Amino acid sequence: MAQSDLFGAEADSAGQPVDPAQAAAALRAELNEHAHRYYVLDAPIIPDAEYDRLFQALQALEHSHPELITPDSPTQRVLGKVLPGFEPVRHAAPMLSIRTETDTEASGALAFDGRVRRELGLTEADPPVDYAAELKFDGLAINLRYEAGVLVRAATRGDGEVGEDVTQNIRTIGQIPLRLKGCDAPVLEVRGEVYMRRDDFESLNERQRQRGDKTFVNPRNAAAGAVRQLDPAIAAQRPLRFFAYGLGETQGWDVPPTHAGVLDALSAMGFPVCQHRTVAHGATELVAFHERIGAQRDGLPYDIDGVVYKVNRRDLQAQLGFVTREPRWAVAHKYPAQEQVTQVEGIDVQVGRTGKLTPVARLKPVFVGGVTVTNATLHNLFELRRKQVRVGDTVIVRRAGDVIPEVVGRVPGPRPAYVPNFHMPSGCPVCGSTVVRERGEVDHRCSGGLFCAAQRKQALLHFAQRRAMDIEGLGDKLVDQLVQGGLVRTLPELYKLGVARLAVLDRMADKSAANVVAALEKSKTTTLPRFLFGLGIRHVGETTAKDLARHFGSMDRIMDATEAQLLEVKDVGPVVAQSIRTFFDQPHNREVVEQLRAAGVTWPEHEPAALADAASLPLSGKTLVLTGTLPTLSREDAKALIEAAGGKVAGSVSRKTHYVVAGSEAGSKLDKAQELGIPVLDEAGLQALLSHTAG
Ligand code: IVH
Repeated sequence: MAQSDLFGAEADSAGQPVDPAQAAAALRAELNEHAHRYYVLDAPIIPDAEYDRLFQALQALEHSHPELITPDSPTQRVLGKVLPGFEPVRHAAPMLSIRTETDTEASGALAFDGRVRRELGLTEADPPVDYAAELKFDGLAINLRYEAGVLVRAATRGDGEVGEDVTQNIRTIGQIPLRLKGCDAPVLEVRGEVYMRRDDFESLNERQRQRGDKTFVNPRNAAAGAVRQLDPAIAAQRPLRFFAYGLGETQGWDVPPTHAGVLDALSAMGFPVCQHRTVAHGATELVAFHERIGAQRDGLPYDIDGVVYKVNRRDLQAQLGFVTREPRWAVAHKYPAQEQVTQVEGIDVQVGRTGKLTPVARLKPVFVGGVTVTNATLHNLFELRRKQVRVGDTVIVRRAGDVIPEVVGRVPGPRPAYVPNFHMPSGCPVCGSTVVRERGEVDHRCSGGLFCAAQRKQALLHFAQRRAMDIEGLGDKLVDQLVQGGLVRTLPELYKLGVARLAVLDRMADKSAANVVAALEKSKTTTLPRFLFGLGIRHVGETTAKDLARHFGSMDRIMDATEAQLLEVKDVGPVVAQSIRTFFDQPHNREVVEQLRAAGVTWPEHEPAALADAASLPLSGKTLVLTGTLPTLSREDAKALIEAAGGKVAGSVSRKTHYVVAGSEAGSKLDKAQELGIPVLDEAGLQALLSHTAG
């Protein structure tokens, strides 16, 4: 944008000096708007490099005019000073806690509604009470104080009366606005939860583990630890996020009459507000919400330990008031805990796809996070030693979402006089090959490669999984039989399986054999990222596979890329680049790719992003919205195809939408498209668009 040069140079294009104060204010406003789009809406409209340029222009301006630095300047998100300790902050309005309904069954919601109705003096003849239903996030409660629209203080809850001043650290959280959009009320305090997503937590811990550093127990502890970090530079490196869920003190702000209205207003001011919320009419709808969220819980990207119901009308809230430190108008309705205590009955060693040996605790069965867990990972020898886990110990087990259950730590207590320490075997427990550990690595590995049945099996399961080739029915038991029986030794051999060969296997009726063959056939039409991810190249996860596919556009270009070329891909560092190069330097790996292609596995390819003028991709600059179920493409596949073609997929229909792709049972998005006169395509129409304009 020309503007930034103009501000940076403190002169406009005609060489006229501009007022630095005005220039700084305009840059701040522009940067804050882009930060909101990037962090909260997840829909940036300028490239990162452009943001950096604007940012540097503002930095330069503030450097020469330090008096222009304001607390809402985006340059103030990262501060370097290490604090000696946190200052206490007395909350203007106490931060209350919330009554917990420990009954995890539906009756928990009924009991709350019953109490509210009684307190309000309602009879059965009266209509249902409206409740705002939302998630109970498992993080750290924070009070954000805005004066005249600018963030002036952030404090932890503390004892509810007095918390700690953590403003420095909170400023580093990109999702938290430094200036409110469209609100300059003298005082507005916003309350909410600072949390860490599970995937961010897993990668943080994986990094710690690879470095041999101490890992964090769960996302909540990692988030709380980061917020209470005395060095804001460290806090800034922790991937923290925020959801707003309520108010503290307000002065001069016209508070909406309902809680749902408050959340809408906060969202409009630029706060992230969780989309999983609703207004429930009476107890039955509370029960439905509790059940619906319970079913979705594992798929959410962050931990929740329950849902929260709040009487929606604020006048009724005031009428209900408080008992001790808890409001009568709100309750938390729990789900089964994600951490439990149980006993270690043994420690086994499992061999993974890349040959990694993982110590796994065999547990006395325990119900955690909604399922019964009998095994939990101990990650590696060093982590096991640090946690000092031995057979017979009582341990805390954590299972959250799709994440593999893990032993978090040992509960201190007496131990029998002699329990032998755990040792890694020197030979692979599956194939007997030598176990090695490379210098500087924490993991022990089986050196057997695809000679090792465990590695073969895991490689097949990895290839077949939903996020890779999505071969339905090719699960653990079947793969076991295929490998043990010697029917499949390499990935391409999968596609040689016929009904006759499958049907002779244990528990395989003709019909299910036919289903597996059909699933194999269907999997042949895939996308480049799925195929690449499915190959199981070390360090190439789903995201890296997508980035590689987008950058190079074709399998051959990826296989032939030099390390230097690989390093040009977003987020690919030396370790990943080397791993990809090493993989394709093995002739047998290239052969696997060729044989799979020969077996009929195909995917669309495109020009390399580096060469393609961005505008020449068929869908560049176009925004599409998907709705309903398409006949053959899953939503993920459709999205991947659109993105590979340079398009963007948005979540809702607006005037900026170029096309809506609708399948069966399309809902309100289709109505909206028709209302706005936006072209609606079916799957064939999308395919035509992808191929038609290509080239
Ligand atoms: S409202 C008066 N809403 O739960 C009600 N709290 O005991 C005050 N929490 O640590 C809290 N999600 O941080 C509210 N959607 C939500 C919440 C929530 C999580 C936490 C909160 C505090 C505890 C309240």
